[in-house]
Amino acid sequence: MAVRPVLRMGNPQLFKKSDPVVKFNSHELDSLIIDLQDTMKAMHGAGIAAPQIGVLQRVVIFGFDSNTRYPNEDAVPFTVLVNPQIEFLTDMKIDGLEGCLSVPGMRGVVPRCQKIRYTGFDQYGNPIDRTVSDFHARVVQHECDHLDGILYPMKIEDFKSFGFVEELGLA
Ligand code: NI
Repeated sequence: MAVRPVLRMGNPQLFKKSDPVVKFNSHELDSLIIDLQDTMKAMHGAGIAAPQIGVLQRVVIFGFDSNTRYPNEDAVPFTVLVNPQIEFLTDMKIDGLEGCLSVPGMRGVVPRCQKIRYTGFDQYGNPIDRTVSDFHARVVQHECDHLDGILYPMKIEDFKSFGFVEELGLA
């Protein structure tokens, strides 16, 4: 339906906590998801969260077969995830490079839990329950953080890893 402008870090909307979706299978939710899909695709993202387009609802989408922004990562199935919950299944954290459509042109290394279980619903209210690891787990943690007003630079431990893609030698 529409590629929506993506809010960039510094916009106060991105630091707010989003509200749970109460009505599934609605026109409102369907059009939000179509806008998220169109926007993610146009910007070649691996995922996007509703607050990034200014909608403070607990909705994220993610997934790709192959992604130019993350060429070395395995595919992640395309998923619409509403009202997500994450359970951390290990204390092991692994470092990995992340970017965000709200922080254009930059990347940084973020430690994330290596293995998680995530639950939630698709847009029709069907339950989702998956146990995943590595990049899939990373993408879900990154997107769900958006719903609590957290952007990946807020989780960086070594700021020497954070910078512009060209300066980091990634472009
Ligand atoms: Ni992001």
